[in-house]
Amino acid sequence: MRKNIVAGNWKMNKTLQEGIELAKDLQTALSGKKVKCDVIVCTPFIHLASVNAVIDGQTVKLGAENCADKASGAYTGEVSAAMVASTGAKYVILGHSERRAYYGETGAILKEKVKLALENQLTPIFCIGEVLAERESGKQNEVVKKQIEESLFDLSAEDFGKVVLAYEPVWAIGTGKTASSAQAQEMHAFIRQTLKAQYGAAVADNTSILYGGSCNAANAKELFANPDVDGGLIGGAALKTDTFLPIIEAF
Ligand code: 13P
Repeated sequence: MRKNIVAGNWKMNKTLQEGIELAKDLQTALSGKKVKCDVIVCTPFIHLASVNAVIDGQTVKLGAENCADKASGAYTGEVSAAMVASTGAKYVILGHSERRAYYGETGAILKEKVKLALENQLTPIFCIGEVLAERESGKQNEVVKKQIEESLFDLSAEDFGKVVLAYEPVWAIGTGKTASSAQAQEMHAFIRQTLKAQYGAAVADNTSILYGGSCNAANAKELFANPDVDGGLIGGAALKTDTFLPIIEAF
């Protein structure tokens, strides 16, 4: 059966020292606690190896926020999937709307990143989601379906089974405006239906689909109670243990 997951996306926050402290703090807070979901922290590249040293990889798991679309070579400033994996990280966020909007990441580029992540035994946390104008014109399903199709649907069923999806409506990210519980469930059910049509019921049922966008302690319980919402990808509220822990405990 699919897993419940709460993943933190630190984005471009925290110095190395602050990041190590936060990871240590979370590891300590969760140690010996029975939680009903996998907990992942996705950190900037430079934090990965140091954070990996202060978490146990079980109570708290590690991921990156991105990786390159090339395997290796003369790509100054880029970080490959193999390099990410060599730090001990097991996950990588790909296709975040901030990468798509500010760094020109297209569906075709993301398809390469997904392939390289899987080749390096990293689990992609693949983000999809519509902007406000698309939601207002009723195009959200079409947009999300296309994002999934163009970057993921060339994968075999076996490989697709290794992917985690995160639905993040762009209008809800960092805005304090969350999708309603009904809007989230409706989209997640549509995504699962889309997966079922392509890969069959078993793959669709086993895929974890997370919600992201102003998810916090106050709304997590209601969001996660939906049958097709398998957890959250958390931005702002993941930057402090005090605000992240109650989201984890919402399960
Ligand atoms: P916020 O939780 O800050 O809205 O960010 C969501 C997000 O983009 C996680 O990837």
